[in-house]
Amino acid sequence: MDHNGDNPGALDALLTEERVFRPLSRVVSNATVAAEDLARITESAKADPLAYWEEAAEELCWFRKWEQVLDDSNPPFYKWFTGAKCNIVYNALDRHIETANKNKLAVIWEGEPGDTRKLTYYELFREVNKLANGLRSLGIGKGDRVVVYMPPLPETIITLLAVAKIGAVHSSVFAGFSAKALRDRISDASAKLVVTVDGFYRNGRAVNLKSTVDEALVAEPTGCVESVIVVHRANVEAEMNDSRDIWYADLVRRESPEAVTEVMDSEDMLFLLYTSGATGKPKGVVHSHGGYMVGVHRTLNWVFDLKPTDIFWCTADVGWITGHSYVVYGPLLAGTTTVLYEGHPLYPQADRLWSIVDRYGVNILYSVPTLIRMLMRFGTQYLKHHDLSTLRLLGSVGEPINPEAWVWFHKHVGRTECPLMDTWWQTETGMFMISPMPVSLLKPGSVNKALPGIEVDVWDEQGNPVPPGKGGLLVVTKPWPSMVRTLYNDPERYKETYWSKFPGVYLAGDVARKDEDGYIWIQGRADDVLVIAGHRIGTAEVESAFVSHKAVAEAAVIGIPDKIRGEVAKAFVILNDGFDPDAGLSRELTEHVRRELGPVAVVKSIEYRETLPRTRSGKIMRRILKAEEFGEEKGDTSTLEDLDR
Ligand code: WT7
Repeated sequence: MDHNGDNPGALDALLTEERVFRPLSRVVSNATVAAEDLARITESAKADPLAYWEEAAEELCWFRKWEQVLDDSNPPFYKWFTGAKCNIVYNALDRHIETANKNKLAVIWEGEPGDTRKLTYYELFREVNKLANGLRSLGIGKGDRVVVYMPPLPETIITLLAVAKIGAVHSSVFAGFSAKALRDRISDASAKLVVTVDGFYRNGRAVNLKSTVDEALVAEPTGCVESVIVVHRANVEAEMNDSRDIWYADLVRRESPEAVTEVMDSEDMLFLLYTSGATGKPKGVVHSHGGYMVGVHRTLNWVFDLKPTDIFWCTADVGWITGHSYVVYGPLLAGTTTVLYEGHPLYPQADRLWSIVDRYGVNILYSVPTLIRMLMRFGTQYLKHHDLSTLRLLGSVGEPINPEAWVWFHKHVGRTECPLMDTWWQTETGMFMISPMPVSLLKPGSVNKALPGIEVDVWDEQGNPVPPGKGGLLVVTKPWPSMVRTLYNDPERYKETYWSKFPGVYLAGDVARKDEDGYIWIQGRADDVLVIAGHRIGTAEVESAFVSHKAVAEAAVIGIPDKIRGEVAKAFVILNDGFDPDAGLSRELTEHVRRELGPVAVVKSIEYRETLPRTRSGKIMRRILKAEEFGEEKGDTSTLEDLDR
């Protein structure tokens, strides 16, 4: 093994996964993009990415065509489809009303208590128009910011679309975030309007949300919010301030089901979404109408191979980017049926997902590793009672999926017949960037290769590509249509965060390696790397080694100082049922990790926990564990999941 000194900045790849899965011929022969076409398209997109994206843009409707596909005259402030006029809602909704999609289900929603609502494209169109008119009556128009603080409800989708339809800008805040997190985001965006609910159901309880909005607004320093719209959902006490608050039902009651769709410039802002860095205040990631719709439409159609009769279920909350791109906009742009579930995935018991797949005949299931691992803990008992035979494709996103969870998901949920699309992307990228396609050869734990039209690489600190097997910094070397345009109110921070290390090249902030076949393996966030005796090791690898032991359900690893080695690993572990934390088990686990990864993976101590601190989107917050370990300030905790919920 090379010492770090020979290859500064490189990351040691300790875990090697040899398994390879070939797609079944049935999947291959029905794929929208055949294997031989994929190779050809990837090649020609490499030679001329703008032609590739222009062709993708032609699949959507524009009020006026672009003069230029990409304006790169002022990097890193790239502009796409300049001169064009469009509105993403025209493509996601209005145009379907003229086609056979009109009477097709757009949304299947299920509340946690078991209540359901189904909306056809036509019904959704009418609801969106009524709210669009209601928003206009409140004085909301082009460019105004609207904060959406809602659980997954049909009204949440309606709100995003109505806001975008009138050319206003939505900024979603997870319903699990605190009053302070909400207040900071409202102030930063100077939002004129907040849309929320009285409350919602989570884990068998009605959670009051309106009171959190009231708390946020009492001390809001800018006084920007003029109105609050409240959806009636959970029959909980909501105090209405008559000069500011209005019930959603009262607002839309007398509105017409027809509304004009605002004509937007391709580059006009569509939404803001705050994402938290390890330090500093959350970053307001800006996305715009034209490029975002092109990127999301193409990637969803291709990666998940959408067919006209498909029922698509992405389990993400609408309030984060996966929800924006692949619960709301992507499926509707594609004219498919999207499933939305309000509540906790284990409520009332651990078969809720399987029951939803069974009852609606879900064809594509897209989820996150942390949920897959959580469900794995229950074994296959809950799967047996449900018919999952409608499933054709599976997906994963959000963090590296450890091969054990990959194989379990593929085998027990996907009957070893459903290809698993491990999609790498970010709030900032807006769309899938690195992912297999249904025809790809799959290696569990690898995100495969960059999609057509996307150029990524793995570089060392000096900006040289690292050799196969060595880790380095993941970069995107060419602009892409759905890229972040800037950070709201902070263009300098945008340049500094993503574009300053290698000028003209996007720094993703992840460490990764490529193998001999050019497959990419994400090893975690660059901030989370351990340096043990000079070897740089991704936390994800050590965690994956832990989870491959039968006793371990979840693991989070941080580095702690060590006199001899500089740093060693400390692990926080959640055990599976039936295993007891004792010194014997700790020895066994330490030995197991050493066997899996080699002697460099020194685990100094293991702490057993019932839960781990995570973001609402399911990512483990290692910096919180570090802060606890070292008795330091926890920094920005606004994205931390409220465990009571
Ligand atoms: C970070 C972005 C875009 C939706 C996810 C949340 C990690 C994302 C994968 C994957 C390994 C992944 C990366 C990335 N990540 N997908 N398939 N394999 N890691 O978006 O909150 O902006 O987080 O999530 O570290 O940088 P986000």
